[in-house]
Amino acid sequence: PRSPWGRFDPYDSPEDQDKEYVGFATLPNQVHRKTVKKGFTFTLMVAGESGLGKSTLINSLFLTDLYKDRKVPNAEERISQTVDIIKHTVSIEEKGIKLKLSIIDTPGFGDAINNRESWKYVEDYIDQQFEQYFRDESGLNRKNIQDNRVHCLLYFVSPFGHGLRPLDVECMRALHEKVNIIPLLAKADSLTHTELRRKKMKIREEIKEFGINIYQFPECDSDEDEDLKTQEQILQDSIPFAVIGSNIQVESKGRKFRGRSYPWGVVEVENPAHSDFLLLRNMLVRTHMQDLKDVTREMHYENYRAQCIQNMTLMMVQEKKRSLHERFQAGREADFPLPLAAIDTEKERQIIEKDEELKRMQEVLDRIQEQMHSQRGGC
Ligand code: GTP
Repeated sequence: PRSPWGRFDPYDSPEDQDKEYVGFATLPNQVHRKTVKKGFTFTLMVAGESGLGKSTLINSLFLTDLYKDRKVPNAEERISQTVDIIKHTVSIEEKGIKLKLSIIDTPGFGDAINNRESWKYVEDYIDQQFEQYFRDESGLNRKNIQDNRVHCLLYFVSPFGHGLRPLDVECMRALHEKVNIIPLLAKADSLTHTELRRKKMKIREEIKEFGINIYQFPECDSDEDEDLKTQEQILQDSIPFAVIGSNIQVESKGRKFRGRSYPWGVVEVENPAHSDFLLLRNMLVRTHMQDLKDVTREMHYENYRAQCIQNMTLMMVQEKKRSLHERFQAGREADFPLPLAAIDTEKERQIIEKDEELKRMQEVLDRIQEQMHSQRGGC
């Protein structure tokens, strides 16, 4: 007979029939059903010098064409261009699971003659999303809050430099407390194996040397399986991920794949021997998407929230002090002292008590003086 539990029958094996069950073994299924129904959201930001293949890589990663209507500015337009923040949103569905993916692009980043404050626009955008979330969360209607917080920043490093450029260092340092940074070595097909290995090592050293806190893959517990530990180690050793992007399918030896065709051969985007593209995509989508969201919520947003509350408290104390002082002054002028019960901080209470005492002493002195004066007059 069909189980009344349906698909989520906890007594699903004959041995289980003998055990006593309360039923909480179905909790993961309940959570699963609920989250699947709600769908998933993920916000990914890309930054790095113009022309490093950011849009091509995003299209390759999610097999979409997010940049259909993009207009590439000419040299003259680039000179006057500031950093723009453009959001592309796409809904992807795979085996009934819906993902609303938002890509935040930063055209113009690093393009100006003086790039000192290039990352400021990026930083402001990240802060604005935190601020919006904080407002929504503190508002009356906390249901269905839209989460636009940036969960991950793919930072593209040029393959043509000698490691990180000053702009890369300054930008990553300015943002590392606010967002999960994953550094990428762009256009990896332009480097030989040796160059690639050396460049990766140099970038890793510089990241350490300049105290840049990039996204840390969660540490495996000692009881976790060996495969997972090896996988985490491979990810750790691959930083910065060497990536290749392509918007087209090429054909070689009877096979069709996303790649780049050169006079001397073909580069396959998804071939692990050619690039870390697959490693990056699996990490982003299959294994670490939830962790990136958790770190955003538990660390970056919490930092922002704590800072906000601290600032608000400070402002409130200052405002209270100011209004207390004003009220006290007004009461004094009107000869209507403020009742002490209305004052709640110990220091303020002490100051006002001292003031009252001085006032009383002054009154006593005035009275004595008056008496002496009248006595002298009377003599
Ligand atoms: P902006 O939007 O101006 O910031 O540029 P972008 O970083 O988005 O670069 P885009 O994807 O437009 O690529 C710029 C050029 O580089 C295009 O001609 C691409 O075909 C080429 N390109 C993209 N990815 C790669 C790659 O992995 N290797 C090589 N060799 N060229 C690439």
